[in-house]
Amino acid sequence: MSTPHLDAAPDMIADTVLLPGDPLRARHMAHEFLDDGREVNTRRNMLGYTGFYRGMRVSVIGSGMGIPSCAIYATELARVFGVRRIVRVGTCGGVGDIELGDLLLAQAASTDSNFNRLQFGGHDLAACADFGLMRAAVDTAAAQRVALRVAGVFSTDCFYGGDPQLLARLLAHRIRGVEMESAGLYGVAMREGFQALSVLTVSDHLEHDAHMPPTQREQGLARMTALVLDSLLP
Ligand code: HPA
Repeated sequence: MSTPHLDAAPDMIADTVLLPGDPLRARHMAHEFLDDGREVNTRRNMLGYTGFYRGMRVSVIGSGMGIPSCAIYATELARVFGVRRIVRVGTCGGVGDIELGDLLLAQAASTDSNFNRLQFGGHDLAACADFGLMRAAVDTAAAQRVALRVAGVFSTDCFYGGDPQLLARLLAHRIRGVEMESAGLYGVAMREGFQALSVLTVSDHLEHDAHMPPTQREQGLARMTALVLDSLLP
């Protein structure tokens, strides 16, 4: 079986999928974390791998950037491959009292995208994380003494430009991260009936014009991946 965007064989994708934005990040994560990892998708270079983490079968697939790309993969993974859990592991810009390298769990995702409204008759959908996945991630972080911030994020369609007052609006609503996918992932999950979560590393800060250096970025993403994988274990 294949879809317009995934050329994997039907049984080659696990029912749990980690979804980084960058397909090369997916390859790196598979090499670092998966036993017996096999490449399962190369269509459009959106690399995907399936293997085992401590005995749990898991796939890691790139989502691309932005809600439309992420929503295409999430929808096909759920509808065609029967995926039951999708965790986005990405980066975000920090807002307010959050530091570079911090881990942020996106409890809910506001957005300037029209994607969820198109699916929901023009109404505003409260795009939120799956409670079970959120609780497991929070419990695992506490057990491992890893600091994990739980807050709202904002999924924007505009990496450049957009609302010039956005930062002030985000601060006024205690939103702590800006990225480009979570509201779409959560909306698709609510509609398709799978569990979804986004865990993000703060890679830059909107107010301080600060950016994580590459080695710190690498370590932060590894720490986040380990936490997410551990939280998904039975
Ligand atoms: N904006 C949007 N997406 C992002 C950012 C940002 O500042 N940082 C990482 N992903």
